Amino acid sequence: MEEFVVTPWEVRGKINYDKLVKNFGTKYIDESLLQKIKKLTGDLHFLLRRKIFYSHRDLDKLLNDYERGIPFYLYTGRGPSGHVHLGHLIPWILTKWLQDRFNVKLLFQITDDEKFLFKKTLSLEDALNYAYDNILDIIALGFDHRKTEIFIDTEYIKSLYKIALKVAKHLTYSTVKAAFGFDSSYNIGAIFFTAIQSAPAFIEYERNKRLINCLIPCAIDQDPHFRLTRDVAKVLKYPKPCLIHSKFFPSLSGLDKMSSSEEVSCIYVTDDEELVRKKIWKAVTGGRGTVKEQREKGGIPKNCSIFMYYYYLFEPDDNKLREIENKCKNGELLCGDCKEDLILRINKFLKEHRKKREKAKDLIDKYLVRD
Ligand code: TYM
Repeated sequence: MEEFVVTPWEVRGKINYDKLVKNFGTKYIDESLLQKIKKLTGDLHFLLRRKIFYSHRDLDKLLNDYERGIPFYLYTGRGPSGHVHLGHLIPWILTKWLQDRFNVKLLFQITDDEKFLFKKTLSLEDALNYAYDNILDIIALGFDHRKTEIFIDTEYIKSLYKIALKVAKHLTYSTVKAAFGFDSSYNIGAIFFTAIQSAPAFIEYERNKRLINCLIPCAIDQDPHFRLTRDVAKVLKYPKPCLIHSKFFPSLSGLDKMSSSEEVSCIYVTDDEELVRKKIWKAVTGGRGTVKEQREKGGIPKNCSIFMYYYYLFEPDDNKLREIENKCKNGELLCGDCKEDLILRINKFLKEHRKKREKAKDLIDKYLVRD
């Protein structure tokens, strides 16, 4: 039996992130690459310091080019099949940081077409409604509107289509089948879709007609698309897009990936305070069966979904994180207190986020581009 599966549409099993690097043929973000980023940006975001972003394709080359005066832009995206959850924010938070530090343009693709094609019960109208809903969350993160273009595939297809066609012509059915595990029951839109997700990786080159690199921050599930994009780039004489991959923000049920298909174990940015409390209290922890045992033996943070929340998002300060970890390990910190503290932090974050989300409603036109 397969140990684990990671594709853009399915993540299951116990993920071995090292094996993904090997199987996908990516590279680790090592110390020297981190130092290089630090040299250019002045510091390192905790998502990099903690190796949550841990793998890449040609990031070293992109940074060398950048030092030689060859510019780059950022490209990332969202498939709008429901509300945004905290896991989705991981790549977007780093994207914002990269935009700020390098002062570069960002293209943000919203793939309503993809979600319509891949989700049996989602209508095209609902996917579009979620697109507009999710865009508020994206704007709320504070991307620079002068340097950010957000587009929804069905409203921007004219700008994408020519490039998508050029890509599609060089992708055979058997290549796509092998990359994504499709069988002949998949609809033909699904088979074509990777060409649409490839297009923004080349669009700036087409517009500028001069060398410009593209850097794609995403979780590693999206890599199979861009492996194909990179193969095709060579044939089309486009620059190969570069990638920086994150691990998955884990679920509250102890699984490796926070996923919309597991509603109770992931926190949506739209969850209210009570729901957050309920979900956190139900979470799988690394705690012991009784308070006495916890005091004596201590908890196991590495097996704890609550600790992972601190690690991935809610305690950016490394010293404070270590303090939480040590207090857990030596039995000083009990799960109940740790959960209560996290609930406060999440609700504070979400309260702020909701305010920014409201403001975003007036800002959409500053970000959205249409044909
Ligand atoms: P989507 O909507 O599934 O996910 C949006 C982004 O979030 C990442 N992601 C996660 N990151 C950390 N922890 C998690 N638990 C988690 N779950 C999802 C995804 O890797 C993605 O980066 N087809 C894409 C949309 C897209 C795109 C792109 C993404 C279009 N162009 C370019 C990245 C880069 C999708 O459905 O993403």
